[in-house]
Amino acid sequence: MRKHRIAVRVSGLLALLCSSITLAQAVALTDKESAAAAADYQKYCALCHGDDRQGHVNDHAPSLRSKSLLSTGYRWHLWFPTAYGRHGTPMAGFFEEVGGPMTKDEIFNVLAWLKEQVDVEKVELSRDPVIGDTSLGAQVYARECAECHGANGEGVTGTALGNAAMLSLTMDSFLRYAIQNGRDGTEMPAFAEKLSANEIDAVTAFLRSRASGWALEKPVYRSPPAKEDYILNPAAQAPEFELKDGLYVMSADLDKALRDGRRMVLLDTRVMALWQMANIEGSVPLPYYYDGVDKLFDDLPTDGTLIVTYCECPRAAAESVNRKLRARGFANTAVLWEGIQGWISLGYPVSRGETVAVAVEDVQLSDEPSDH
Ligand code: HEC
Ligand code: HEC
Repeated sequence: MRKHRIAVRVSGLLALLCSSITLAQAVALTDKESAAAAADYQKYCALCHGDDRQGHVNDHAPSLRSKSLLSTGYRWHLWFPTAYGRHGTPMAGFFEEVGGPMTKDEIFNVLAWLKEQVDVEKVELSRDPVIGDTSLGAQVYARECAECHGANGEGVTGTALGNAAMLSLTMDSFLRYAIQNGRDGTEMPAFAEKLSANEIDAVTAFLRSRASGWALEKPVYRSPPAKEDYILNPAAQAPEFELKDGLYVMSADLDKALRDGRRMVLLDTRVMALWQMANIEGSVPLPYYYDGVDKLFDDLPTDGTLIVTYCECPRAAAESVNRKLRARGFANTAVLWEGIQGWISLGYPVSRGETVAVAVEDVQLSDEPSDH
């Protein structure tokens, strides 16, 4: 169905956007770094994932030494859960930017250390969406998976496959690989022999279709706000933020100001497709590479209304638009510190692409226009 195609394409874009994270070269750890990473692992992770990374010591935390995970998960799929956590599960975010105890380098080193403990070659995952029949997938899920992952994907002994933060940050091919190959050394079976390729695609597509909640829905294209609607709560007072370094607003403060109905403009500086998927309610899409930036700036209020920019990973694009704003004389501007990843992972609300509920029978691939 169309929704999961969009979602996966977005994962690809995320990867490109956050290239500073994905592409940063993984250099072998020095002995000193390796010892520090091993100590950090014991200090922060062993409690649930086990002294020997075996998993399932507390809260059914998964194994962090299965070849299946490390060959496909390093670093992208390890970084997000470790840095930002999985809201709604016991896995908390460890990155200092979301209140955790670890710096980016410390996390990178723990992940590199985890990988060095296991002898694996990287498996290249496709960024293409997995297309499958979601109603068949729902049946396969109920029959083969619900027992361990929960009827609603809430997680039992297996991970919470319905977790929205997990699904929005995970590529289809990563999920499919885990389903096909299992997770060696854990209870997660390899389904390659037991299910047909068609069934595996179907259950993967079914999981993906849950990314915005555990109900079958279809996305509807939405247009950006009209310029009359750029200012949120025009009649209200401005928020009173204490900006970190004179520039950064924390998610908690922004959330409160939005809930209090304060006057401001919110600019989403990511690729437009990401804005379509999920954005902070009321935001105006203004991709950082957009040629019409000056034209759009003409439509922004010049009376000192606060203009907050945000992006994905977590600030590069937002900072670049913020610099352009300040160069154009908009003095009252701020950048969201955690980015929208942090915002979502911390559990703050996003407006997801408008959807309409559909009956299971209606969700057939053949009903969908080919859009890729
Ligand atoms: C309080 C227990 C707890 C602690 C401490 C903890 N985790 Fe987790 N972790 C979990 C649970 C539970 C999950 C699975 C959540 C879910 O259902 O998706 C998880 C998931 C993960 C995943 C995703 C694995 C996968 O198979 O997708 C990674 C990576 C991870 N943790 C890394 C770490 C690291 C690194 C540390 C230490 C810095 C750590 N965790 C500390 C409980 C914990
Ligand atoms: C017997 C219990 C069991 C069954 C049945 C089972 N799983 Fe799992 N699954 C697990 C466990 C346990 C894990 C975590 C493994 C680990 O420690 O890495 C897991 C992990 C996964 C993961 C990896 C998640 C991640 O974040 O890395 C996916 C995807 C998954 N299962 C999908 C499925 C699907 C789809 C089915 C049904 C076709 C299924 N599982 C059936 C127990 C099960």
